[in-house]
Amino acid sequence: MTQTLRLSDFPSWRELQALAAQMQGTSITTLFSKDAQRATEFTASAAGLTLDYSKHLLCRDSRAALLRLAEQAQLPQRAGQLLAGAPLNNTESRPALHTLLRARSAPAGLEAEFSAVEDTRQRMRLWCDRITSGQMQGYSGKAIRDVVNIGIGGSDLGPRLVTGALAACHGPVRCHYVANVDPADLHYTLQGLDPDATLFILCSKSFRTEETLANGVAARDWLLAAGAPEEDLHRHFLAITTNLEAAAAFGVPADNCLPLWDWVGGRYSLWSAVGLSTAIAVGWEHFSALLAGAEEMDSHFSSASCAHNLPMLMSLLEIWYCNFFGAGNQAVLPYDQGLARLPDFLQQLTMESNGKRITRDGEPLDYDSAPVLWGSAGTMGQHSFHQLLHQGTRLCPADFILPLTTPLADAARHRMLVANGLAQSRALMIGRTEDEARASLLGRGLDAAEANRLAPHLAMPGNRPSSVITMDAVTPHSLGALLALYEHRTFCSGQLWGINSFDQWGVELGKEIGADILNRLQNPDSRKNMDAATERLLAQWFAAQ
Ligand code: F6P
Repeated sequence: MTQTLRLSDFPSWRELQALAAQMQGTSITTLFSKDAQRATEFTASAAGLTLDYSKHLLCRDSRAALLRLAEQAQLPQRAGQLLAGAPLNNTESRPALHTLLRARSAPAGLEAEFSAVEDTRQRMRLWCDRITSGQMQGYSGKAIRDVVNIGIGGSDLGPRLVTGALAACHGPVRCHYVANVDPADLHYTLQGLDPDATLFILCSKSFRTEETLANGVAARDWLLAAGAPEEDLHRHFLAITTNLEAAAAFGVPADNCLPLWDWVGGRYSLWSAVGLSTAIAVGWEHFSALLAGAEEMDSHFSSASCAHNLPMLMSLLEIWYCNFFGAGNQAVLPYDQGLARLPDFLQQLTMESNGKRITRDGEPLDYDSAPVLWGSAGTMGQHSFHQLLHQGTRLCPADFILPLTTPLADAARHRMLVANGLAQSRALMIGRTEDEARASLLGRGLDAAEANRLAPHLAMPGNRPSSVITMDAVTPHSLGALLALYEHRTFCSGQLWGINSFDQWGVELGKEIGADILNRLQNPDSRKNMDAATERLLAQWFAAQ
């Protein structure tokens, strides 16, 4: 078996270190003034999305060196392997075949899997049409009007994001999302819902996730308390899972279950039956358009050269800042209210996938892997954390996501939104010198002493990098392409770091300890000694009961 190469093993590693050191002393505005073509030459488009990466600490030479790194790491071949179903998830001996979920035809050798996907898509469509047309009825014959998706992590974040982002496409059935085992989540979601007109989708790849199962039991109790006869509960539950036996044991009949497969990672599962709540919210045609947008990005990813390949370019930028400039974080700033949950979705996608410290072969990394991803919808962030982006001591590369139109009638306010997004990206780049700040203060009528005193506080260093990703509008198609873009960027970065992006062993220990502690809370006499801090907190909990 070939040994996994680490990022630091590639011939470009040292060259990139030297180039990054040179770039530290360069300003992005100088790069623009030296290169009249920069704005167009550092822009790439695919599947209705345009990536403007001109406002980065990147010149043509450093870009060429990054592209050589992509070739050395064989990113184009790796993209082919991903889509062809190679067993890239080496700790679980599986492929990661989320791209098959939006494929229009079967890649060679994957005919059986594709046919299972198509069958499930058909069944999903039937459920979707049945529910949106009002044919699906609750225990006393009312049409289903509200759907509550109960799931967490990948069984929640993707559908929740897309359903929220496509509000303009919503049909007659309202979809809600419950993830947290905090009883408040389900309780307040159910307030005002009519039990007889409510359908629950238990969404769990494993059907072992304690939050989801506990909320499922509480949902069943809510129906029973409202008078639903036990024998009619099947009218109120669907399940999406690989674990059909566990769903049956919960009481969901086989006909009400849609399958998943172990070759779909939870955080990549939006495109499967996990997306059923979204399909119900927006209708089957729009859900199909979401898949088509993702599929168009897949085919771009697997066919475009590295220099024009959006996921590869974005991954190279991630590596550039993370490994050569020491940036430990990345901001994602959607200038679209519907995309407010995009950072949440991307946190699981990137940090669960690439938050790893060893190579695929178990060797320690001698460089950083995934940065902390964070962000929120513009313009709210401007009145909160943008201060740090502009004048803080840390480097925070940012992705601005900027739809150019709104489906709503208010063009004037949308213009303000766009102006704000563009202004923030430009302000990060150009900053303001102390002299400019002083001149502005004098222009406002301050005396010289006061202007001198305040000028350092108003000065902004600038030279802070950002990308701007634009699309004509947030549509099912462009949203599918955007999410697939980030999926593939995540994959490329994982490949460059030499890690397995498709497992998540790091979440297990907390679950095991959680089970031990729950046992202690339920049986105070069961003695499993914990550390002194946990023991003190346990005592405090018992005292509060
Ligand atoms: O705990 C992490 C995790 O396993 C995620 O990877 C996954 O998306 C989430 O839990 C939910 O898992 P499931 O869909 O099996 O309930």
